[in-house]
Amino acid sequence: MEFRATDTPRLDWTGDGLAIGFFEDAVELTGDLAQLDDKFGGILQELIAETEFKGKEGSSASTRVGGSGSPVRKIILVGLGKAEALKLNSLRRSAAAAARSAKKEKCKTLGLSLPVWNNDSGLTVQAIVEGIELALHQDNRFKSESEDKGLQLEQVDLLGLSGQEEAINRAKQICAGVILARELVAAPANEVTPVTMAETALKLAEEFGLVAEILEQEDCEKLGMGAFLGVAKASDLPPKFIHLTYKPEGTPRRKLAIVGKGLTFDSGGLNIKGVGSGIEMMKIDMGGAAATLGAAKAIAQLKPDVEVHFITATTENMISGRAMRPGDILKASNGKTIEVNNTDAEGRLTLADALVFAEKLGVDAIIDLATLTGACVIALGDDIAGLWSTDDAVANQLVQAAEVAGEKLWRMPLEEKYFDGLKSPIADMKNTGPRPGGSITAALFLKQFIKETPWAHLDVAGPVWADKENGYNNVGATGYGVRTLVNWVLAEV
Ligand code: BES
Ligand code: MN
Ligand code: ZN
Repeated sequence: MEFRATDTPRLDWTGDGLAIGFFEDAVELTGDLAQLDDKFGGILQELIAETEFKGKEGSSASTRVGGSGSPVRKIILVGLGKAEALKLNSLRRSAAAAARSAKKEKCKTLGLSLPVWNNDSGLTVQAIVEGIELALHQDNRFKSESEDKGLQLEQVDLLGLSGQEEAINRAKQICAGVILARELVAAPANEVTPVTMAETALKLAEEFGLVAEILEQEDCEKLGMGAFLGVAKASDLPPKFIHLTYKPEGTPRRKLAIVGKGLTFDSGGLNIKGVGSGIEMMKIDMGGAAATLGAAKAIAQLKPDVEVHFITATTENMISGRAMRPGDILKASNGKTIEVNNTDAEGRLTLADALVFAEKLGVDAIIDLATLTGACVIALGDDIAGLWSTDDAVANQLVQAAEVAGEKLWRMPLEEKYFDGLKSPIADMKNTGPRPGGSITAALFLKQFIKETPWAHLDVAGPVWADKENGYNNVGATGYGVRTLVNWVLAEV
């Protein structure tokens, strides 16, 4: 898809579909819109009346204009919601609605006229391009015949936004990262394995100039990663501990580590997931790792003056005669011992060693993303990630980055008292506590593997997957986290 930032007035634009944004309860045809309505014989007025278009966020209405030879073939109205509530994400969503409508109307070219958010044309363009690219992304890899044939939208003109080529480029690179994350999550566990994850990382490194280090099982043994390897034991596939590094030219302004949970499948282990547990969805259990690699792809191309380490301990949680047993005691690479009272709480075991590894790199902050607990989905639902942090500054940076990204998250408490629930009579800790506050004890467990580096944890079990089409997300993997991570790394703090 080609995006062009232009100052062509909407009155003069020619092409297939012309999409115009309206605020809710302010659907008025004044000024140049009155002229546009005149030019097309009153069709805008008619469309508004016929469809009772009110400008609600994400809504749209479209109609044909004139005969062949008309300078514009379709008019598309898109709703922005209330003017005073305009967010970057309203633009992302209305741009998605315009693109979906243009596609349905078989438009090859789309002229898009949306307001500028907060006098910031750069972020406006970024949000619009993201909304369109992500809404139109279709994953047909596993269909023998594409369901997405026929005319495609080829060119989008962003009206009134000339000079924003850099923002277009930034958005496209971010979207390439989001789409990589979506494709990794959506692919089944017989396609995306620890081995292919490592291959994907190596390919990214080669293509975009990252340093790649893949630790094999023996390397992990040498480092004493008993928690990660305990989980990996039952799988017939070798575990892969992936570490990609992006280094800017010159002295980095900050050094950061991003750690993703990388379970390419989670059967639960010997505490096997039962009927109704959603075991058939557990290919998504590498959503954190997918966001990590997606962010690596984007950051390697955007080249910020920040050093970033991308880390994921990838394996499967399987059952076999070699499987770790409930009650087994594992020793993590920081020397702490863990009584595994539930083999289904495996993500935190793999993350324990990944966090210890990350902290040894001497970074300024560590953030992990993990499809860690069903409890977080119960607490916050499908759309919102939980955020836990030992550091208010990092937490606020992430809240800010997520707001710009349009990815919802909510800060949750690291309630130390609840660590009592993880006390073990025989080891330093158990890996699970009581059911109440299950996402909090999971976060407290992870905290045992961080000494002093500012750290934040995102439980993304809900938002990595969408059951329904929503705005720029289609049914399936959302690529959640990539945009927040990239915004966080790029932000000047
Ligand atoms: N991968 C799951 C969490 C999960 C649940 C992700 C639903 C996505 C959707 C995790 O490994 C897990 O099994 N967690 C257990 C923890 C429990 C044993 C303390 C859970 O949430 O039930
Ligand atoms: Mn599990
Ligand atoms: Zn899991």
